[in-house]
Amino acid sequence: MSGQAIQVYDGDGRGEDILRWALREFHPRIAIATSLQDSVLIHMAVKIQPDVRVFSLDTGRLPEESYTCAEEIRRQLGVRIEWYFPRHEMVERLETEKGLYSFKTSLEARRECCAIRKVEPLGRALSGLEGWITGLRREESPTRGALEKIEKDDAHGGIWKINPLADWTEEDIRAYLRKHRLPYNRLLERGYPSIGCECCTRAVEPGGDPRSGRWWWEGPEHKECGLHS
Ligand code: ADX
Ligand code: SF4
Repeated sequence: MSGQAIQVYDGDGRGEDILRWALREFHPRIAIATSLQDSVLIHMAVKIQPDVRVFSLDTGRLPEESYTCAEEIRRQLGVRIEWYFPRHEMVERLETEKGLYSFKTSLEARRECCAIRKVEPLGRALSGLEGWITGLRREESPTRGALEKIEKDDAHGGIWKINPLADWTEEDIRAYLRKHRLPYNRLLERGYPSIGCECCTRAVEPGGDPRSGRWWWEGPEHKECGLHS
């Protein structure tokens, strides 16, 4: 994770104080990035700032369960999700020249697809913002083990990157979802602890590495798509 870590008071240690601070300082020039697995984060934020901004990147290859969850989040939590699509001409060129599954052929080809479908739209979503809020958690992978709750995001012009759930475990998330009866991605109960594009995500064995179902044909050291590099 790039960027310089800033140490601030962490209140109850569960991230809500940081979220409150960030929304007070930067709303509406800050937004939550939702992978449609972050209803916990959205629920916490709506209580602080009812018209909190939320955006999601529709890669064109998301599973149906993610779209269903998006609608539940929209209705139940009363948020307007700002959707970002990839540039159509880039996807058209990619698919025409390299086919629909080029991402399976090499690491470079996979990164090219993620760059077109995720990283470029993220750049547009963050344009004009002073910060963004993610649902990243340390336990998700070794590449996220040193995650700070507040960072400067050098990859996106040095804006703030707020990760309020950094020290939450998967069980913390499930308990909060149950307690508040929040929308969740139905793939979660079918063994998908981490969900991205349908064609690049599969279920993992109980107790298995939560990200092992993402790009499962690649080594664990590569399991980032560029959103958080
Ligand atoms: S990824 O980089 O491997 O795809 P992951 O699925 O673990 O990321 O999600 C981590 C955080 O990245 C999410 O909590 C969310 O903040 C952000 N994120 C991931 N995918 C998306 C998406 N499609 N749209 C918006 N934000 C996303
Ligand atoms: Fe392409 Fe797979 Fe990355 Fe989605 S996760 S953008 S389909 S390589």
